[in-house]
Amino acid sequence: MMEALLRKLLLAAGRNAALSRLMRKHGMRLGARRYVAGTGLSEAIATVRRLNGEGKLATLDHLGEYAGSARDAARAAEMCLKTLDALHHSGVDGNLSLKLTSLGLDLDMTACENYMRAILQRAAEYGIFVRIDMEDSKRCERTLRLYDKLSGEFPGVGVVIQAYLRRSPEDLKALGCHGANVRLVKGAYKEPPDVAYPDKRDVDSAYLRLAMTHLSSEGYTAIATHDEILIGHARDWIAQQGIPDNRYEYQMLYGIGEELQNRLVKDGCKVRVYVPFGEDWFGYFMRRLAERPANLWFVLKHWRK
Ligand code: FDA
Repeated sequence: MMEALLRKLLLAAGRNAALSRLMRKHGMRLGARRYVAGTGLSEAIATVRRLNGEGKLATLDHLGEYAGSARDAARAAEMCLKTLDALHHSGVDGNLSLKLTSLGLDLDMTACENYMRAILQRAAEYGIFVRIDMEDSKRCERTLRLYDKLSGEFPGVGVVIQAYLRRSPEDLKALGCHGANVRLVKGAYKEPPDVAYPDKRDVDSAYLRLAMTHLSSEGYTAIATHDEILIGHARDWIAQQGIPDNRYEYQMLYGIGEELQNRLVKDGCKVRVYVPFGEDWFGYFMRRLAERPANLWFVLKHWRK
């Protein structure tokens, strides 16, 4: 009960634009460095280099979502291009993740599509893969439609499927037929029960079913979770079915499950860490805290830092 309330409060704080602006002004604090690599691109690249040294790959995400104006969307697109340039010129092993609402999905669908084309064109020149993150369920259909359109032109693009959504088995079936590169996650947004399973057990069993479905398809699967039990089941199943190593990888968020990441690397598994960076750290940080309100003690400890 208390935990549910805290979760609601944290998610609401993360969505509050005025609070985000205020936090942005004061630089990164509250212990957010645990989950966010830094505010600038150079810190992000240094983090990717360090992760590469630990045997891990990375995907960089310049934080920001729900562009409020055409200027914000243009700025976000420019930052994606700069991130691709930095990945290429630094020689680190990483790719790019992005959110369509940061490119103005809600403002101007055509402009958003044009930004995506420019980003995917630059990424293709460098041989860098781009992942379209999945946002709340209201944007799911539009995200999948745009992915479908772009993936015909650019093979180096992938999308995300959220196990908590009731529609996901159908969506994944269509993606599997096209050999799509899919990151499978549990889902991070607050959704109504007719849209998403409210019970964690249902989400977990849906996750495993979806993972097995996509691993058996022609597609590539990014198993993105810190859930050790689910990862254990997936590993057993992969071994039983003889799924080749070049058809899947494990993904985790920066600052979470490091011990598990290291164990997987030691076992020879491909592990990619999602590395967020940028000045808009507050909303992302609140979502990570909401997943585990017990982490609040950590915020209190770092109140002034
Ligand atoms: P679960 O929440 O059951 O956690 C399993 C265990 O992980 C916990 O018991 C705990 O030990 C640890 N853990 C989880 N969260 C933690 C936290 N915040 N702090 C400390 N420990 C924590 N979602 C989305 O909707 N769209 C997207 O595009 C993405 N993209 C994405 C990329 C990658 C690489 C990952 C790993 C995740 C996402 N997500 C996402 C987020 C995802 O939907 C989900 O919210 C989180 O991964 C948390 O769920 P778990 O799968 O870890 O399981």
